[in-house]
Amino acid sequence: MVRIAQRIATQTAYPFATILARKREMEAQGHRIIDLSIGDTVIPAPDAAVAALRAEAGHPERHHYSSYNGISPLRQAIAVWMRRRFGVSLDPDHEITVLIGSKEGLFRFPQTILDPGDAALVPDPGYPVYAHAVAHAGGVVVTAPLTIEKAFLPDLDALPEETCRRIRLLFVNFPANPTGATADASFFKKLYRYAERYDWVVCADSAYCEIYDEIPPSAALQFDPHHERTIEFFSFSKTYGMTGWRLGWACGNSRLVQALVKVKGLQDSAPFEPIQCAGVAALDLPNAAVASAREFYRENRAILAGALRRAGFSFFNAGAGFYLWVRTPAGTAAAAFAERLLVEKHLLVTPGTAFGKNGEGWFRVAVTRSREDTAEAGRLIAQEGLP
Ligand SMILES: Cc1ncc(COP(=O)(O)O)c(C=O)c1O
Repeated sequence: MVRIAQRIATQTAYPFATILARKREMEAQGHRIIDLSIGDTVIPAPDAAVAALRAEAGHPERHHYSSYNGISPLRQAIAVWMRRRFGVSLDPDHEITVLIGSKEGLFRFPQTILDPGDAALVPDPGYPVYAHAVAHAGGVVVTAPLTIEKAFLPDLDALPEETCRRIRLLFVNFPANPTGATADASFFKKLYRYAERYDWVVCADSAYCEIYDEIPPSAALQFDPHHERTIEFFSFSKTYGMTGWRLGWACGNSRLVQALVKVKGLQDSAPFEPIQCAGVAALDLPNAAVASAREFYRENRAILAGALRRAGFSFFNAGAGFYLWVRTPAGTAAAAFAERLLVEKHLLVTPGTAFGKNGEGWFRVAVTRSREDTAEAGRLIAQEGLP
């Protein structure tokens, strides 16, 4: 029998692959499943992006390998967008790289920072890729437990001095997956006080930065004006409904960005150039193009929140991101509750434990699906009731 490397054999599968397999089983039994488990949206990609992809795909000179850090017009468009949205100035040649979706870069980045045994601070609950990426890079995962008492922000003051010294890299994610938590200026200022004192690299994941109800979230780079220790990841997926296109970028400190480009160069080439051209078209759109999607998610969130509140559920709603983070009924484990919703109500949500052990007692519901499915999901969860 072939032997799989220990590193892979002992690693748990990506939680969403397991959840998808469970959905397929139920569908094979003839059930229609309402799927609010994943951060994918019903809002289609902008017409301008589709038109650019179509037009550019017709040019054979666009069919070759792209440069490893992406085409220059896209890096320039990203620089313009970052200045317009956050007031952050970046050098498109050295401080920006295009990615095949931000997940790709987030997974590879720890390889550039961590030597075997180096520690990285990872939020729990958090996007599962961070911990897997650290483990693959040979690093040691130190979890920052996130609690509702601290509004799901990492409690840096609670970290022992010894841990602070061991950490080389920390992940932050605002608006956060799964909680939707956002950070204000005082949090970021504290974060950089710690980062400077202990010489941490800050890996900020801002994939959801354009998804908010009222207050536009900040970028970490706004608080590191000389780009000394930050690399920040952005995505076309959530902002423009382009999840399947696989397009994102990393930007910030040039040494960090170029180290990532070096690793990427060994492992892949940049995305298909017509997709990068579509990215330019999307970034050039006026803000109003995203505002209508934002409004759609805001209304879905309000519908779901209303139904859950009336049924007596408690939840955390920071008014940002793609999700509501909801407590399971008292005494019900996250996995058992999610399974019950699937089997009895044909509704798929994500058990909080998919995001780490501190997700126990919670589940995540996406607000990105159709209005009808969202309203129906609220009704079905409410029926499940509280004991
Ligand atoms: C927090 C977070 N970061 C990054 C990603 C990856 O996005 P993409 O690879 O589509 O850019 C996701 C996807 O769900 C996410 O939730």
